[in-house]
Amino acid sequence: MLSYYVNGIPIGKALGEAGKEVTIKGWIHRKRSSGGKAFIIVRDRTGTIQCIVDKSKVSENEWNDAEKAYNESSVIVRGAVRKDERAPGGAEIDVKELRVVHIGEQFPITEYQSPEFLLDVRHLWLRSQRLINAMQARSYIFRYARKFLDKKGFYEITPPLLTKAGGETGASMFEVDYFGEKAYLTESSQLYAEAMISSLEKVYSFAPSYRAEKSRTTKHLTEYWHLEPEMAYFNNAKSMKLQEQLVSYMADQLAKNNEDILKFFNVNPQDLLKIKPPFKRLTYEKAMELLKEKGSEKKYGDDFGVEEERLLTEHEEKPIFVYNWPKEIKAFYMPVNKDGKTVACADMLAPKGHGEIIGGSERIWKLDELLTRMKEVGLNIENYSWYIDLRKYGSVPHAGFGLGIERVIKWMLNLDHIRDAIPFPRLINRIAP
Ligand code: 4AD
Ligand code: MG
Repeated sequence: MLSYYVNGIPIGKALGEAGKEVTIKGWIHRKRSSGGKAFIIVRDRTGTIQCIVDKSKVSENEWNDAEKAYNESSVIVRGAVRKDERAPGGAEIDVKELRVVHIGEQFPITEYQSPEFLLDVRHLWLRSQRLINAMQARSYIFRYARKFLDKKGFYEITPPLLTKAGGETGASMFEVDYFGEKAYLTESSQLYAEAMISSLEKVYSFAPSYRAEKSRTTKHLTEYWHLEPEMAYFNNAKSMKLQEQLVSYMADQLAKNNEDILKFFNVNPQDLLKIKPPFKRLTYEKAMELLKEKGSEKKYGDDFGVEEERLLTEHEEKPIFVYNWPKEIKAFYMPVNKDGKTVACADMLAPKGHGEIIGGSERIWKLDELLTRMKEVGLNIENYSWYIDLRKYGSVPHAGFGLGIERVIKWMLNLDHIRDAIPFPRLINRIAP
């Protein structure tokens, strides 16, 4: 059911303007009429407010329009604000003028609908209080991420999304027929970001990544927005510090500036204010020991699944890092540690089982080392000639990471499914609308 929760203006504004006349341009959220009065709840992007149309005080045309209009008809309402303790939001508007801008047709979404139907009419469901709040939070979280990196002296770069070079496994990429040549939708912009650190030093791309994984979980999208910072002269430890600062900043800003949105999702801003560095750091080996104690069947060398992530984080208040993973289950570009079996990398796992939100590592920066690893994992060297080139001319130690922004939104708003963190979710069984 839609709530009548209101986040400030015009309600907040209206309250401050009691007795004054205001004009609201919006949409009809709900309406009913009785005894010569129509009660129209008007919605704009800031909230909803009840507008009362008195038959005796408006023209016949206006009254007829008020009676005929549907939920979601667009309207412009002019009237006087009156405080009313009983009204949702504490104020109402006595309408002096009502203009139905577009009466339209009967809105297809009624009170109780299945999640699948709501996904079919996603283009209309975006008007729900739930998605209005989620999409506003998304926009703010994008803003806070960019603001943090800007303050840290990063340049935003724009990578190509059509590519011949895969970053991770290659097996999970969508193939594209590029005028007869085989190409892919990118699964990560990392390799291109690596090319740009030799000129700009600290860069980030914030772009879609595509994963053709057949994962039907509550945290997988086939198209998601990937924030990928890459830093020259950084090692893994320094990169991890930057990651916890970034995540802490986003949580802090959301808690301080968007209390209304958090309240809508029943999230306590105090919980987000606790997300302060340092985050717990566990080696993969240590994490495996803990998992064993908690009854997991996984053994050294296995990747984590939803269950392992939950076991490790269900009682945590802050995200945790798991670092130094076995080389066999990580990407080719990660340098092997002195132990010969792990690589210099880290995953950040969100608390309460929300799962991995960041994957990052140092990058192999020496030519021979890179070629050896690429051959070991069986990559087609030809497709990576430009990437290999980067190790021939003034190569430097560097590191970077990728943050899945919808995973962060899901965690910070405590959503039960990642689909409500993005306006038009792409899932294995859904590519429309
Ligand atoms: O761990 P991943 O695969 O790492 C990379 O792609 C690196 N090249 C990033 C880098 O170092 N620049 O993906 C990074 C993050 C994950 O931690 C997760 O948050 C998100 O991307 N992610 C997904 N989000 C939604 N749906 C999916 N199917 C995702 N797959 C990964
Ligand atoms: Mg990962």
